[in-house]
Amino acid sequence: MKFWGNGLGKILRCAKPADVALCSRSFGNSCAVCWAASLYHPAILTRTGWCPSGAGPKGAVARQSLGRTKTLISTFRQENNKIPVAVFSIERVLLCAPCGSVANLTVTNVTPTDELFLRRALELARSGIALTSPNPNVGAVIADKAGHSVGAGTYTYDGIQHAEVLAIEEAGERAGGGTLYINLEPCSHHGRTGPCAEAVIAAGIRRVVACMPDPNPMVSGRGFRRLQAAGVEVEVGLFEEEARKLNESFAKYIRHKTPLVTLKAAMTLDGKIAPPPVESHNPTALGAGGVSGGWITSETARAHVQELRHEHDAIVVGVGTIIADDPLLTDRSGHARRRPLLRVILDSRLRLPHGSRVVKTAKDDVLVLCSFAEAKKKQALQSLGIRVEQIPAVLPDGRPDMPGVARRLGEQEITSALIEGGAMVNWAALASGVVDKVFLYYAPKILAGDGSVPFAAGAGFRTMSDAAYLKSFQLHRFGEDFAVEGYLRDPYGN
Ligand SMILES: NC(=O)c1ccc[n+]([C@@H]2O[C@H](COP(=O)([O-])OP(=O)(O)OC[C@H]3O[C@@H](n4cnc5c(N)ncnc54)[C@H](OP(=O)(O)O)[C@@H]3O)[C@@H](O)[C@H]2O)c1
Ligand SMILES: [Zn+2]
Repeated sequence: MKFWGNGLGKILRCAKPADVALCSRSFGNSCAVCWAASLYHPAILTRTGWCPSGAGPKGAVARQSLGRTKTLISTFRQENNKIPVAVFSIERVLLCAPCGSVANLTVTNVTPTDELFLRRALELARSGIALTSPNPNVGAVIADKAGHSVGAGTYTYDGIQHAEVLAIEEAGERAGGGTLYINLEPCSHHGRTGPCAEAVIAAGIRRVVACMPDPNPMVSGRGFRRLQAAGVEVEVGLFEEEARKLNESFAKYIRHKTPLVTLKAAMTLDGKIAPPPVESHNPTALGAGGVSGGWITSETARAHVQELRHEHDAIVVGVGTIIADDPLLTDRSGHARRRPLLRVILDSRLRLPHGSRVVKTAKDDVLVLCSFAEAKKKQALQSLGIRVEQIPAVLPDGRPDMPGVARRLGEQEITSALIEGGAMVNWAALASGVVDKVFLYYAPKILAGDGSVPFAAGAGFRTMSDAAYLKSFQLHRFGEDFAVEGYLRDPYGN
């Protein structure tokens, strides 16, 4: 039996000689035993960093799995600069104790053709970004018995039909005896459509190659088990890291009913997000630089911010940013999206200027979250097409509580929120613990001085051991700028 997983090319020995740790691209070093278990039971995902045991299988979950699973590396290869893939032979795979059931997945040989088609399925899934929320991004390809592509599908929320069903429809009879390639486990429950696992079985598909199980712990593994029960061969784990990243917002939302929260900022090398306020004041569009002397980051980096916005359901700022910069806060990536990017402004006492560009361009896509809603001010904003809602204040500062903000957005089926706030909102978000990940852009500039605006103002973390600690970070280059993307919390964690 073989399992496939994406690795960086580094294979580490775990503390115990028979065990193996895989250097995973997104989450650092992961224990192969935990990794294998996580394929079937994401609720107990125990990658390194999140793994109770660190780099080796020493923790409780890992120990339970260890007694039941034996791992050996069989081969490791890297082809033509493709993402390296580590192959693990796993004898006797049983699910770990928390799941209680046996996973008899027959994972056989995965060929370069499989890689090609699964890559295509991932690309199709990616093309559904901003068209699927609050559901996951899914792409599917069907190859016939001879290995020719005969059907493909991309899920979109408005299209209703799931990707594999679209692919089956396109393939028609040629699906019989073929292989389905898909980034996510086929569903086994009735939602707006019937269960896809049944459609796959009915189409006579003999083999399913999937990247990962459904991140919803309520249904995870059921689709695969249903397929296996009908005699379909199931292989899981190829390109798993990419697939997990693609649906990380869905994973967070479906498990917690709150959005994946990403804190984004553009700053100088010394961590300043704006020059001293008096110099940066520009009543027209401060974000565009104005008298502050221009943007912090380059056009290339700012174009990427638009892509980032495109991937999100909502953008969140404090009213301070509106007053200082008068930003539009729209998705100007040029790509289609199902719902407009929800522009959320945190504004305790409704100070939002009626003449601001956000207000002037509101089309049922601006939500002001306040803590004290003075009826007259509320009505005035509502008459301008702005939604105003109250979030109870929990802290003595009397401002909307950040976890409350996240919950309210979740109630509105917002699966991902991009905080592009100023110094105060950035700190409030970090301090409250709502931030899942950061995307911090740096320009090779130094502002220095006490007066310029820091990335996060407020009390700050008082000791190094309290400092927010990024896991699994990636560096991105944008011309002369760069960005750090990293996680404060595992989107697939509990
Ligand atoms: N480079 C960048 O990436 C970037 C991005 C955005 C802004 N900026 C810069 O940041 C500066 C503005 O900073 P800022 O701190 O005033 O902006 P901000 O953090 O966006 O807004 C702060 C205001 O938000 C309101 N607020 C509502 N709920 C809050 C909560 N839970 N926690 C904290 N604040 C809450 C507060 O006003 P009330 O008490 O009235 O509610 C507060 O004064 C500008 O110079 C701007 O250019 C830079
Ligand atoms: Zn389905």
